[in-house]
Amino acid sequence: MAVVISSNGNSKAFEAKLTVYVFICVIIAAVGGLIFGYDIGISGGVTAMDDFLKEFFPSVYERKKHAHENNYCKYDNQFLQLFTSSLYLAALVASFFASATCSKLGRRPTMQLASIFFLIGVGLAAGAVNIYMLIFGRILLGFGVGFGNQAVPLFLSEIAPARLRGGLNIVFQLMVTIGILIANIVNYFTSSIHPYGWRIALGGAGIPALILLFGSLLICETPTSLIERNKTKEGKETLKKIRGVEDVDEEYESIVHACDFARQVKDPYTKLMKPASRPPFVIGMLLQFFQQFTGINAIMFYAPVLFQTVGFGNDAALLSAVITGTINVLSTFVGIFLVDKTGRRFLLLQSSVHMLVCQLVIGIILAKDLDVTGTLGRPQALVVVIFVCVYVMGFAWSWGPLGWLIPSETFPVETRTEGFALAVSCNMFFTFVIAQAFLSMLCGMKSGIFFFFSGWIVVMGLFALFFVPETKGVAIDDMRDSVWKLHWYWKRFMLEEDEHDVEKRTD
Ligand code: BGC
Repeated sequence: MAVVISSNGNSKAFEAKLTVYVFICVIIAAVGGLIFGYDIGISGGVTAMDDFLKEFFPSVYERKKHAHENNYCKYDNQFLQLFTSSLYLAALVASFFASATCSKLGRRPTMQLASIFFLIGVGLAAGAVNIYMLIFGRILLGFGVGFGNQAVPLFLSEIAPARLRGGLNIVFQLMVTIGILIANIVNYFTSSIHPYGWRIALGGAGIPALILLFGSLLICETPTSLIERNKTKEGKETLKKIRGVEDVDEEYESIVHACDFARQVKDPYTKLMKPASRPPFVIGMLLQFFQQFTGINAIMFYAPVLFQTVGFGNDAALLSAVITGTINVLSTFVGIFLVDKTGRRFLLLQSSVHMLVCQLVIGIILAKDLDVTGTLGRPQALVVVIFVCVYVMGFAWSWGPLGWLIPSETFPVETRTEGFALAVSCNMFFTFVIAQAFLSMLCGMKSGIFFFFSGWIVVMGLFALFFVPETKGVAIDDMRDSVWKLHWYWKRFMLEEDEHDVEKRTD
């Protein structure tokens, strides 16, 4: 399987217009990111709604009523966490199947499968009459996320003119953040609709799922996917259509060449285990771990719950989540704007310091002023919300988008989609871990949880400082010579491979 980029990474190599058709394709496909974001954002609000808790988690509801007895533990319930986290476990498993359908059937059918999973999942979750139906619905939504998150970024990369590829990659993250924000707004309004507001909130994901299903009938398959599956004539015609020019011979040849080359690699997963794959592999996987251990999803999933913990009422808590959601969207634009100017490393390092300070301030205020049974004073609660917002800002222009961008640009063509599939599933795994564990950790560690995440932010900052090289402006197929071979640590794996090649030649 191959994602094709001009061999010298130079957009001038191929003539291409940004056609209206490509623009429509990008918007429709990116709706996949919107659904992912909606699912991330909706669960926190729904799990804070009394009607929902009464119906499925009566013991949590009882505990919440006596919240003043224990600030940090009122929501701790394994089943409640399973409601949130089951989606990510399902997505993890699904991304491996999605990698196979992407190459065997194409990107477009994989997106269509995603929308069908989404629709059935939404129906089950919104119409749930018992907890099993609810969780089964979440699992199907997770399948949708696994299929969508594999197919959409690939589709975007392959359909975009090369010069716009980086920006389009972060558009996926932008759609994720917009999805989270819409979910927060929906939560805010539906929380006052009794007793079925939560059903509307969960059902809302049906709208983008329908757009994706019908929209995907309008979009084309990517030229790479067609050529890879030997539909060369159709591939060339599609290329002409999306580029808006008649002469696409050069780009077409380069796709054919990349597909031929990729076909020679019989087992990309074995290739991924070889020393030469070590730098993108280790960085790609660790970035997913670190992205989740910034603690972002403790905030994204549980913002309303968290704000209630620090003493906001139900409505005020949901409103604060809308504010953090808005900041998340706006700050992602900063990322889009800066990533190719200041570079990746600057953003990762700046935000590590930035997020560390925020986590420490929040932790110190909670440790000092919020005991297990009291409430936080209004001014302190406000300071907590402000620092949560500033923290989200830092994440939104760094570890959020770069967690997706860096793995998509550092694997060589022959292992790019497999490496990316592993990165997606790794991300889902750690998202699952945080979703499942956060409320119990909050209950067990209390304000210490913020110091726990601070510790990880120090580790990831050091990792970025020593092990993540700058890839800004480097041609995508030139990482080996221009980045890894020159890096103080990663170069040893390149040298090992060179020696190995020499030995093989002299045998
Ligand atoms: C992460 C999600 C997170 C979101 C927040 C994404 O990059 O993968 O886990 O919830 O950013 O905006």
